[in-house]
Amino acid sequence: MSSKITIIGAGSVGSTIAYTLASEAIASEIVMIDINKEKVEGEVMDILQGTCFRSPISMIAGEYEDARDSDIVIITSGIARKPGQTRIELTQTNVNIMKDIAPKIAKEAPNAIYIIVSNPVDIMTYVFTKISGIPEKQVIGSGTLLDTARLRCGISEHFKVAQANIHAYVFGEHGDTSFIPWTGAYISGVSVDEYYENMKALGKEIQPIDKEAMLNYVQKSGGQIIAKKGATFYAVSVTVCKLVNLVLAASDTITTVSSMMHGEYGIEDVCLSTLTLVGPNGIQGKVPMRMNKNEIEQLRKSADALKNVIAQINL
Ligand code: LAC
Repeated sequence: MSSKITIIGAGSVGSTIAYTLASEAIASEIVMIDINKEKVEGEVMDILQGTCFRSPISMIAGEYEDARDSDIVIITSGIARKPGQTRIELTQTNVNIMKDIAPKIAKEAPNAIYIIVSNPVDIMTYVFTKISGIPEKQVIGSGTLLDTARLRCGISEHFKVAQANIHAYVFGEHGDTSFIPWTGAYISGVSVDEYYENMKALGKEIQPIDKEAMLNYVQKSGGQIIAKKGATFYAVSVTVCKLVNLVLAASDTITTVSSMMHGEYGIEDVCLSTLTLVGPNGIQGKVPMRMNKNEIEQLRKSADALKNVIAQINL
């Protein structure tokens, strides 16, 4: 498969994405762009020199012109969250960075699929969609795909069952107002509550899931990792590489990513994550999932919180 992927931002997240794309032979050509030329050159040397026993790859530290005709552009630029800082506090600084990047890259790669990773990701996805002129179906925010991965990890550990059997999602903002629509949480076709009953009946030593604690685990993981090691980059990078694979796949896939809402669940003009059909042509639309009244209310609250931030930023 031949694909040209540009990564903007050579910090820990951008570089780990580049490393993963290179080591899994997902891209044939990678362009990395960063305002810090020394850093991006160092990252490219370090990654490229480790590819000799892998599939050949072209990789450069480049300028925006080098991104011309990219199939996929991944934007990771922005100031990272500091310990104790919320994603929202980062907002205006990172919006200003996005305002600088968007016109430059949109000019070179108008047909690319864009994956927005910079935080706060739902706001950055919204800003990029509004200011870049790129059709919105070409804009995918990594959104709660990472939170969904964390949830599956948590449920898998709890029930000691393979993550591949777990169909459960995190919806809303990638942040403090995210929630788990348990109505749609299944383990191979069996609801999470029924699964517990079934396993107990089989004589397994098993506890019901503490749903509040599970949401807390999902929401606090990013902050906890930052407090412990200063940044998060491995899980988010694997998540972004998964999204790249979905875009390069032959069929569409349903997953949780952030994209523009158009009246679904009564929500519009904001980007957040619900089930979304994603594929080679980008965002195909939100896929309605049955939720109870309380879950729909939580989604609306998440939308309101994001809209409140959007109202305060200088676009
Ligand atoms: C996290 C950061 C990437 O949740 O937002 O790990």
